[in-house]
Amino acid sequence: MKTFGAVVAAATLFAQAALADIDPIVIKGTKFFYQNNGTQFYMKGVAYQEDYAPNGGSTSNSSSTSATDYTDPISDDSSCERDIPYLQQLGTNTIRVYAIDPTLGHDKCMTALADAGIYVVADLSAPGDSIIRSDPIWNDDLYNRYASVIDAMAGYNNTLGFFGGNEVSNNNTNTDASAFVKAAVRDMKAYIAQQNYRTIGVGYATSDDADIREDVGSYFDCGDSSEAIDFLGYNIYSWCGNSSYTLSGYDQRTAQFADYNVPVFFAEYGCNEVEPRTFTDVQALYGDEMTPVWSGGIVYMYFQETNDYGLVTVSGDTVSTLADFGYLSSQIASISPSSVNMADYTPSNTAPASCPSVGSAWAASNTLPPTPNRDLCQCMYSALTCVPNDDISEDDIGDLFGTVCGLGESADVCAGITNNATTGEYGAYGMCNPTEQLGWALNAYYLAQNSANRASACDFSGSASTQSAASPTGSCSSLIAEAGPQGTGSVTSKPTGTGDAGSSGGSGSSGGSNSGSGNAAPRFGSTAVFGTGMAVAAYVSLAFVSGMCMIFL
Ligand SMILES: *[C@@H]1O[C@H](CO)[C@@H](O)[C@H](O)[C@H]1NC(C)=O
Ligand SMILES: *[C@@H]1O[C@H](CO)[C@@H](O)[C@H](O)[C@H]1NC(C)=O
Ligand SMILES: *[C@@H]1O[C@H](CO)[C@@H](O)[C@H](O)[C@H]1NC(C)=O
Ligand SMILES: *[C@@H]1O[C@H](CO)[C@@H](O)[C@H](O)[C@H]1NC(C)=O
Ligand SMILES: *[C@@H]1O[C@H](CO)[C@@H](O)[C@H](O)[C@H]1NC(C)=O
Ligand SMILES: *[C@@H]1O[C@H](CO)[C@@H](O)[C@H](O)[C@H]1NC(C)=O
Repeated sequence: MKTFGAVVAAATLFAQAALADIDPIVIKGTKFFYQNNGTQFYMKGVAYQEDYAPNGGSTSNSSSTSATDYTDPISDDSSCERDIPYLQQLGTNTIRVYAIDPTLGHDKCMTALADAGIYVVADLSAPGDSIIRSDPIWNDDLYNRYASVIDAMAGYNNTLGFFGGNEVSNNNTNTDASAFVKAAVRDMKAYIAQQNYRTIGVGYATSDDADIREDVGSYFDCGDSSEAIDFLGYNIYSWCGNSSYTLSGYDQRTAQFADYNVPVFFAEYGCNEVEPRTFTDVQALYGDEMTPVWSGGIVYMYFQETNDYGLVTVSGDTVSTLADFGYLSSQIASISPSSVNMADYTPSNTAPASCPSVGSAWAASNTLPPTPNRDLCQCMYSALTCVPNDDISEDDIGDLFGTVCGLGESADVCAGITNNATTGEYGAYGMCNPTEQLGWALNAYYLAQNSANRASACDFSGSASTQSAASPTGSCSSLIAEAGPQGTGSVTSKPTGTGDAGSSGGSGSSGGSNSGSGNAAPRFGSTAVFGTGMAVAAYVSLAFVSGMCMIFL
């Protein structure tokens, strides 16, 4: 049986290699090109994601937050082959998918798409595994999620790019979240290079929110190029019915990005305030006024769902096209965007000289959060004396953060887990999981007590206990030294882990009695609350935390 399996696998591989002969898309300056023949590539895209609307904007349905509550639209079990003929009728050369399940296979669908000349832009996040605008964090769980999607997709020549976030900051109350998204972009670009994958761009998809759109555009493009996006997706719904280039504001957006130095395209478009959608904006987007700046766009979306943006309805194996489908396909069939050959094109735009200044309109510093480093977290945790008990609940973790960070200790016991994207101050351990961060803070509090009080300073109402702390050695010792005694140092050593690093142990650690706890921590995704609001709330209930009473004595 084993031999038989190997033969089948080899035959399948051969068939794929023979069929999936698709030219990778590369970026030069502000444009996309077919790598081998140098023809300019305009995205003629359709969003392709069943049962999941992205986390924001006019298409938002963020009611689903469970980590597994999504359907991977291009897994081998998906119906993508059913839909490819319809995508071809629409003239589609790109689909955008919002939630990949990296544990599933993708060969069948990706090969079928490649055979149809269709590329894929994939969001790296998923419901329950994304950077939340109201409570942003870039931690090692998210790092591993994003990296595992890259692992799943980087081997295909028709993977065109990745989004490190979608519509995360959407007004001037949550612009700080963009710093965490930009850190994700930086780290995933570095990850692609570190893994020696083909160079695939990592970008960001922004909403079209009037009060922040100029700043968002320049923030993601400014500064060190290793931190900047490779392309920008712009989600825009301002051309409704028979609008026009000027009425829709497309003219102003084109002016905004005329100086941009990376490709920009519509990552979602297709206002449905007037139905059926006739997609008259297609002629503008691929016409002479916009093609010098834009690389096409992605219509939102293939499937008809409650939000009423569908091009088709699907029932089992049966696909029925809607009126919008016919309009879009004839609009796309009638475009002929002018193009330049890669060899004849000399980019002239440069990155913005400065980043948006932090003030009332923009709150994200150009100093980005640190790279998540699981090794560092595990090394640190093993070296703690006071740690949360293994059976601590998620609620108790949240409460204890409030308690220990709100105590007003003279030593700032939470400096090592600070995550303030506005001031650009980040503790070295702010990217660790909630249990590890809490351990750091409880231990710092414990160490700040004089030795007479210490014996009772690691109780926290029975939520914490002492362990025998490991003495860090080898790489653990150097990582911890970089983080510094207060956890406020800059760790410049890069993580050694990959997308699968979740199960690897802390290297060089001699192993404390509790050294596995970091891995066993509850997975909060990015929703754990560490904010100051929590600290104040918990301060009120301090009286219930018996272990704390001594601080008032
Ligand atoms: C992917 O593209 C590269 C570069 O053009 C090519 O060498 C390789 O054969 C392609 N792989 C497949 C499976 O088509
Ligand atoms: C380059 O390849 C693409 C995709 O196969 C094709 O559409 C285009 O016409 C080719 N360009 C030239 C100049 O052959
Ligand atoms: C900002 O966006 C958030 C999330 O969509 C929303 O809850 C809030 O009301 C908005 N605030 C303002 C001032 O627009
Ligand atoms: C849009 O313009 C077309 C062509 O001029 C016209 O037939 C159609 O009635 C217009 N639709 C609306 C909603 O104004
Ligand atoms: C969001 O999803 C829920 C559950 O599927 C649905 O009842 C609701 O109508 C959706 N809302 C929008 C705006 O699509
Ligand atoms: C960051 O620090 C500033 C200045 O201390 C403060 O106003 C702001 O609330 C902090 N932000 C967060 C998210 O804690």
